[in-house]
Amino acid sequence: AQGGAQGSTQGSFPSRPVTMVIPFAPGGPTDIVGRLLAEAMAKDMGQPVVVENSTGAGGTIGAQRVATARPDGYTVLLHHIGMGVIPTMYRRLAYDPVNGFEPLGLVTEVPMTLVTRKDMPANNLAELVAYMKSQGDRFNLADAGIGSSSALCGALFANAIGARPTIIPFRGTGPAMQEILGGRVDLLCDQTTQTTEYIRGGNVKVFATPSRTRIATLPEIPTTAEGGLPDFVVTVWHGLYAPKGTPAPVCARLTASLQAALRDPRIVQRFSEIGTAPVSQADATPEAHQRFWTADIAKWKPVIEATSAYAD
Ligand code: MLT
Repeated sequence: AQGGAQGSTQGSFPSRPVTMVIPFAPGGPTDIVGRLLAEAMAKDMGQPVVVENSTGAGGTIGAQRVATARPDGYTVLLHHIGMGVIPTMYRRLAYDPVNGFEPLGLVTEVPMTLVTRKDMPANNLAELVAYMKSQGDRFNLADAGIGSSSALCGALFANAIGARPTIIPFRGTGPAMQEILGGRVDLLCDQTTQTTEYIRGGNVKVFATPSRTRIATLPEIPTTAEGGLPDFVVTVWHGLYAPKGTPAPVCARLTASLQAALRDPRIVQRFSEIGTAPVSQADATPEAHQRFWTADIAKWKPVIEATSAYAD
């Protein structure tokens, strides 16, 4: 069980701990989903799944870590909508953001919320927009760097209302949220997997969700369409990946484990508490994941080109 000769270990995969790379900071939304998933997959596979936060550059550092890892199934990546926008946003990367991975299955799709520091002098979306525009670049927007969902959402929002806030990038929205809670940053567009707790606790002000429908667990939050911005819609899908070239039987074992994890009552329960749900078993497959991912890259390309939201 020391890794063994290449090839001979496939039948018994995994025979040692699997590393799950999370491309954003500990405590944030990807980390929250990743740790729940890692625990449930470990239970199914009978081996530890060790979370490694490999952060920076809008999620591209962690993605690169997995794209260039040995393709043996012992290093996997939990990433999100960033996989759909990074191929267009970044013109130079040290890995192939489209062909460097074996998609293993989708995981979940998470609504976002527009939250601000608690003492924001605005009480609805229209007031927030007016305040933001009146402040110009004195208004601060926190995000997790170009390629992150918070940066995409923030850019879409600023673009939709014609504002030019100052962007303050962090290595994840976990640390960004600390600045919102401390009242040092104005706005963060972030997933319910992190924000639910702070919204319920009254630690932040919430203005809207850029979802097509209201969030079942936070029904008091209006949608952006209700607030007059019908085209500003974005939700955050997550998927699991292995490096390109990982043997098919190993990928199949990882997908089976992902599916088992998504059926796990603890995951279903915890996900629902934080405003989301596991995808269907049919979507937790390489085929569905590849289809969705390819369509998402095509969907965002013209949007990114229109807003010039490039990394370089
Ligand atoms: C995180 O986990 O920190 C966030 O998902 C990053 C992001 O904004 O996409």
